[in-house]
Amino acid sequence: MAKTTKKKNTSTKKINKIAPPKGKLGVLLPGMSGAVSTTFIAGVEAIKAGLGKPIGSLTQMGTIRIGKRTDKNSPLIKDFIPLCDLNDLVFAGWDIFADDCYEASLKSGVLEKELLNDLKDTLKETSPMPAVFSRKYVKNLNGKHLKRGKTKMDLAEQLIEDIKRFKKESGVDRLVMVWCGSTEVFIQASAVHSTIKSFEEGLKKNHPGIPPSMIYAYAAIKCGVPYANGAPNLSADVPALNKLAKLKKVPISGKDFKTGQTLMKTILAPGLKSRMIGLNGWFSTNILGNRDGEVLDDPYSFKTKEQSKLSVLEHIFQPDLYPDLYSDYYHKVRINYYPPRGDEKEAWDNIDIFGWLNYPMQIKVNFLCRDSILAAPIVLDLVIFLDLAGRAGLHGIQEWLSFYFKSPMHGENLYPEHDVFIQLMKLKNTLRYIQGEELITHLGLDYYDFA
Ligand SMILES: NC(=O)c1ccc[n+]([C@@H]2O[C@H](COP(=O)([O-])OP(=O)(O)OC[C@H]3O[C@@H](n4cnc5c(N)ncnc54)[C@H](O)[C@@H]3O)[C@@H](O)[C@H]2O)c1
Repeated sequence: MAKTTKKKNTSTKKINKIAPPKGKLGVLLPGMSGAVSTTFIAGVEAIKAGLGKPIGSLTQMGTIRIGKRTDKNSPLIKDFIPLCDLNDLVFAGWDIFADDCYEASLKSGVLEKELLNDLKDTLKETSPMPAVFSRKYVKNLNGKHLKRGKTKMDLAEQLIEDIKRFKKESGVDRLVMVWCGSTEVFIQASAVHSTIKSFEEGLKKNHPGIPPSMIYAYAAIKCGVPYANGAPNLSADVPALNKLAKLKKVPISGKDFKTGQTLMKTILAPGLKSRMIGLNGWFSTNILGNRDGEVLDDPYSFKTKEQSKLSVLEHIFQPDLYPDLYSDYYHKVRINYYPPRGDEKEAWDNIDIFGWLNYPMQIKVNFLCRDSILAAPIVLDLVIFLDLAGRAGLHGIQEWLSFYFKSPMHGENLYPEHDVFIQLMKLKNTLRYIQGEELITHLGLDYYDFA
């Protein structure tokens, strides 16, 4: 473990005791046969087998500064705070396609066949359980590996049974669930989502405002399992499930993994704003050809994604505070399904900016990324940090995990924090806080002479 500083946690009132990460951690993945899930699972198995490194994962590779810069104390995060070891992860999940993890990884077409063949025996051992699914909510998919039930409550109870059975049979100590399923059609929160009672009534009466992702979130929270949502659909982001999470003392987080183009946006936009550079327009377009791209080809699923992608700039640029710079910019986001490209998405951004005396300038970004290669380490970090949150007694919405999301869930009456640098500071200060270390403000007052 890392050296600790003499001065402890003066800026906070309470330090949580963290239960040790003993035993195995079960990772439950709705959408287990998809590109993100399979790249995550096969990636973790490759790392366990010494065939690769966890590039992109803060829990595995990131460091954290403790104390002053002169203390020269920057341990790895995983040496600073007791995290679950990657070797202790065990996988389970659900999908509408029954392929085992090896077959599903091959079909996803992200990782090379040679690597997957080296992991074949391990990957073949895991297959998804039948899913809770309805084409009303994801129009461009059709699978047969499904649960049947008269009501949505019956389906939730079947998921709860799955969770309990997996825990018993696998002997895992704790569980975490991350929604890696497809993006569902756009739904707005309404009366059925307002209280636990109205939500449970809605489950019993098959209310159309409750899509499958909410049924999974409900089942996880009911079982005391921390839950993260990697897609933009509401899922746990409704008052009823937020209340249930607080009641059951379960940490929750979401929505929509922040990977390619939006990651770039939340890196560039804070930099432009920090120098008071103005914005006239930001046009973003993408081509991608994986199953996610096919699902997003449906305008109803795309609307959910579009809302998520559009929201970041407004919160970063704060036009109400900087009307001369940001009150009148045009922001457009497009996603085009283009099968030949597979998971290797290409994103273009044209950014029209202006400087001193309104003189115009342009920035062009062409990001040739790999969607699931960027998403897999996010899933790993969310699994490990949500497990930490659970062991440290944190519950309800975990805003310190905003770092990983395009549309961060946030407390009532608060706005979401999108600036990736503020998000990272918040994440690291939360780790310092739960370990009882002094928070870092970057003030450095001792350095200056005062009159
Ligand atoms: N890849 C990225 O960079 C990225 C970034 C942000 C968000 N996301 C989101 O993450 C999710 C997964 O992305 P992906 O690229 O793996 O997509 P994918 O289409 O390859 O995988 C999604 C999987 O979910 C399954 N599924 C759909 N509904 C289900 C249900 N009700 N129960 C169980 N399984 C269900 C599908 O059969 C499919 O196997 C998508 O919602 C996507 O929008 C991905």
